[in-house]
Amino acid sequence: MGACYGARTAVASGRNQPLHGDARDRRICDPMTAPKYHLTSYGCQMNKLDSELVESKLRQRGYQAAESEAAASVVLINTCSVRQHAEDRVWSKLGKLRIRKRTEPQLVVGVLGCMAQEHKRYLLSRMPHVDLVVGPSAFGDIDDTVEQARQKNAQLAAEREPARTKHEVHGAGVVSVDQGVSGDTIVRDVKVRPHRSQAFVSVMRGCNMPCTYCIVPTTRGDEVSRPIADLVAECERLCGDGVTEITLLGQTVNAYGRDLTGQDATLARLLRALHAIPSLRRLAFITSHPNFLNQELIDALAELPKVARYLHLPAQSGSNAVLKAMRRGYTTERYLARIEQLRAKAPDIELHSDFIVGYPGETAADFDQTVAFLQRVGFAQSYVFKYSPRPGTLAADLPDDVPEPEKERRNAVLLAAQEELTAGFNRAMVGKVVEVLIEGDSKVDGRFSGRTAHHRLVHFECSDRDRIGTYAPVLVTEALAHSCLGTLQRDDAAQAGRQDPAEAHA
Ligand code: SAH
Ligand code: SF4
Ligand code: F3S
Repeated sequence: MGACYGARTAVASGRNQPLHGDARDRRICDPMTAPKYHLTSYGCQMNKLDSELVESKLRQRGYQAAESEAAASVVLINTCSVRQHAEDRVWSKLGKLRIRKRTEPQLVVGVLGCMAQEHKRYLLSRMPHVDLVVGPSAFGDIDDTVEQARQKNAQLAAEREPARTKHEVHGAGVVSVDQGVSGDTIVRDVKVRPHRSQAFVSVMRGCNMPCTYCIVPTTRGDEVSRPIADLVAECERLCGDGVTEITLLGQTVNAYGRDLTGQDATLARLLRALHAIPSLRRLAFITSHPNFLNQELIDALAELPKVARYLHLPAQSGSNAVLKAMRRGYTTERYLARIEQLRAKAPDIELHSDFIVGYPGETAADFDQTVAFLQRVGFAQSYVFKYSPRPGTLAADLPDDVPEPEKERRNAVLLAAQEELTAGFNRAMVGKVVEVLIEGDSKVDGRFSGRTAHHRLVHFECSDRDRIGTYAPVLVTEALAHSCLGTLQRDDAAQAGRQDPAEAHA
């Protein structure tokens, strides 16, 4: 099934070069001299989880988080290649760092993640102010790589003191690592977890699907699932450490385990194993592929009350011609049949999707079918993306023939259709008491926000910061376009919600 069409080139590992000093074993203990890092994440949830692991590893080495990027001596950018726009933000950021480095030659600049994998040669040859380039499969020893770059810079700066020309201060050797120790085994530092009670867990890395437009198989490599026992152990550790909501991550998360021959590992079995952890309250998983939505998974969704009540099942298009051109491996009819099967067994599960508009050759009639499909399924939420050609993918050889204004129009029309549906879901919540996991300050002034088991966002008055990370009942009073307003209820209702999170939505 679905060969990985993106070649992965091995590049000489920086770890083959001698370390300057005994960097591997030396923890930096003096807080006064500890190097300060700043890391920005530009990508998907997988990218954000990787950033958390990188930060944990640096802190274990003795590095400290800087209060701002300007105060950091190590600036790291965890990048995304999925669309041109995502890359443009990083190129522009690197332009600013090039200027900063003219006056701070010791500054360590690191490009991590999918762009590091995709553009390693360009970054190494054309961006001399970039000190390290680390692909997503080599975060396991990121601390060594950063330390190596830091020591190189210090050595070069000492040799060249005072810096005389622009060229000299840029000449700080580059460490490149794009294959190596995976970050999966990094022990997490609770201080860098965005929410104490929530955690992402990567169950598989890479992707073997043949979607013609997508660069992820190139940047992330082949599918590799982690054994169930390892995942149970990691989730037990997290739950012991205060986590109550776990979101499992994989590019095709419901294909989990198919590479683990002889282990009978499937997502459904994994969900059942994790469901048994007593202190776990919610268990979500993203992103599912329509081809792997089977009865075993549907049964697990129906039977396991802690499993989140939404399924992110990107359709990408509602036109069979476009789906075929994209090599998605299903038709709209097959997609609909699968979700009918799902709804028969677990009618409270809401569907979320991604759509691409303006794929090469997509006609206005194809697009109209996508709008009709979105309405027919009745998605609760969708992300809509304008097609962006990615170099090296099969679709990049096709003419990008839908003009930009037409892509804009289709984007706006599809978003408007989705917003209407989402607003309907929000209106249907008014008057109901829902259980939310309180996440913290909301974007609506002075309020807190939380998410329901359906992943719906609710804002409500609350000033007790100790309640962040706990579950509470909220009466929904008003529907907004993308969220709801509500009022916090007494806790006995929360107990009721706890017994059956799905029931609170009935
Ligand atoms: N593995 C997931 C998500 C992959 S990337 C999945 O298969 O669903 C997230 C989304 O980005 C995709 O679902 C797709 O809608 C969008 N995307 C991927 N490549 C794109 C491209 N070249 N142009 C525009 N959108 C793209
Ligand atoms: Fe894999 Fe998703 Fe990209 Fe398809 S869209 S190749 S399934 S990551
Ligand atoms: Fe982007 Fe890489 Fe995630 S390309 S979407 S950061 S897997």
